[in-house]
Amino acid sequence: MPKDELLLQVQDLTVYFTTLRGYVRAVEDVTFELAQGHTLGLAGESGCGKTTTALSILRLLPINGRIMKGKVILEGNDVTRINSERFRKQVRWKKISMVFQGAMNSLHPTRNVGDQISEAILLHEDVNKREASERAGKLLDLVGVGAERLDRFPHELSGGMKQRAVIAMALACNPSLIIADEPTTALDVIVQTQVMKVIKELQAKLNLSMIMVSHDLSLISETTTEVAIMYAGRIVEYADTATLYKEPLHPYTQKLIGAFPSILGPKKELTTIHGFPPDLINPPPGCRFHPRCSYAMEKCKKDVPLFENVGEKTHFVGCHLVSQK
Ligand SMILES: Nc1ncnc2c1ncn2[C@@H]1O[C@H](COP(=O)(O)OP(=O)(O)OP(=O)(O)O)[C@@H](O)[C@H]1O
Ligand code: SF4
Ligand SMILES: [Mg+2]
Repeated sequence: MPKDELLLQVQDLTVYFTTLRGYVRAVEDVTFELAQGHTLGLAGESGCGKTTTALSILRLLPINGRIMKGKVILEGNDVTRINSERFRKQVRWKKISMVFQGAMNSLHPTRNVGDQISEAILLHEDVNKREASERAGKLLDLVGVGAERLDRFPHELSGGMKQRAVIAMALACNPSLIIADEPTTALDVIVQTQVMKVIKELQAKLNLSMIMVSHDLSLISETTTEVAIMYAGRIVEYADTATLYKEPLHPYTQKLIGAFPSILGPKKELTTIHGFPPDLINPPPGCRFHPRCSYAMEKCKKDVPLFENVGEKTHFVGCHLVSQK
């Protein structure tokens, strides 16, 4: 990717949580890039480290979480190194914002949505209350809720409207990058489609850069330009979205895609992935997927596969089977 197009580079990000049972090795050696105007999908089963990766980028890990190693380079600067006050003032919300997993259910119940959006603007921008409220109205228009609903309380809005208000809040300070963590998971299918439409319109209108975190491969296929598949704390495959869905190379990606119904393609029989993801306090040695992989070889049980580019374009895979072909 040409350097001037790059917005974000995550390099060897490794995050552990301290617990009474030992370290939870939640994210290990995660590496990816994101260009301006692109959307990266971060997908994988529950507990594979998607939210932890997102929270690390925003430096909002829970108190027992720690970045052990790695860099998060935004517009050329490693933002893991700058002091927390500067990060809070200059980076969080202004450059990178986030739609948190389950956020629509944590809107303040006794404050109207206009005030809640205005507050985010007032905290970070040098504007007065009236200007902040005007901007909140424009944002509500942009996400299809409508400025006329500025004075509505969360309980007066439908689930889809609340989620759109949360997206408006993430847009409040014109960030270069939005991380959306499971933005449609709690919604019914029809409302999911509406929220997805809003996200797609925003991407086109604002040339937004996004990280779309989801276990829903249909959402990921519809809204992203590149996809990273995570398994047990590591990225196992990364490619542009069309390539990843057409030619998945990692056995886990193949199983994951096989387990999801296709929105547009022909009807197919869905497959299941037997077994469960491992305990990340004591993950399996070698390839972490080996206990569930039908192609596992002896070396898969001992050696961590290299994460290497195997395509003519960018197509990274971490699998012994693929690298020996
Ligand atoms: N505060 C914490 N303390 C200890 N372990 C944690 C903590 N937060 C997350 N974990 C563990 O870290 C791992 C990664 O969790 P994470 O929430 O990032 O997964 P996820 O991919 O976002 O899952 P989901 O799809 O369920 O949201 C899991 O094993 C989880 O149990
Ligand atoms: S490295 Fe081995 S165990 Fe892991 S996915 Fe590839 S073949 Fe399966
Ligand atoms: Mg999560």
